[in-house]
Amino acid sequence: MHADSWANRAKQEGFRTRAVYKLDEIIKKTKALRKAKYILDLGCAPGGWSHYIRQKSNIPEIYALDILDMEPVEGVHFFKQSIEEIDNINLIYSLIGSFDLVISDIAPNLTGIGAIDTENIYELNDLTISTASRYLNQKSGSMIMKTFQNNKLKGLRKKMELSFKTVQTFKPAASKKQSGEIFLYGANK
Ligand SMILES: C[S@@+](CC[C@H](N)C(=O)[O-])C[C@H]1O[C@@H](n2cnc3c(N)ncnc32)[C@H](O)[C@@H]1O
Repeated sequence: MHADSWANRAKQEGFRTRAVYKLDEIIKKTKALRKAKYILDLGCAPGGWSHYIRQKSNIPEIYALDILDMEPVEGVHFFKQSIEEIDNINLIYSLIGSFDLVISDIAPNLTGIGAIDTENIYELNDLTISTASRYLNQKSGSMIMKTFQNNKLKGLRKKMELSFKTVQTFKPAASKKQSGEIFLYGANK
């Protein structure tokens, strides 16, 4: 399907972003939402992924954060904070070690200078992995994280392998080929 067709489909189906179809494909393939109650959405604005999860199931309690504002999504606890400040969000911190699924679509603003962008992406992804490792249930938690194809991807995957029993890479059909984006899935089951 062409990139615009995914955007049209999102509009027709009432989703905020076409990014929901990337998450949808990974969730269907990994069954990551099955039995998930506590979900953490990092870099959630404008809310496509949180909204998608609410549509799929009423069971999850979703906690979401972003440095940008987000229009409310019913049933989602939103915090306008950076991932760097997550430990200061009492409601989220009180659930440390209890989350079943962490999803992260976080992306830094790109400068257009390859080496700087690669470094910024790596730093945010690295922080996302360590945050997910602390906040997830150690026995059964899983995470889905967006990253990009660059010379640090191998190292990033290795870091995930240190924290999760299973690590898989996904390039969903709804993800533009030229975007270079790629998704890593880690699970402890
Ligand atoms: C691609 S968008 C997320 C789209 C979202 N998954 C959706 O479906 O609506 C990436 C988000 O990451 C956020 N972001 C970037 N740096 C961040 C940080 N340090 N902490 C939290 N969010 C951040 C951006 O503000 C942006 O909203």
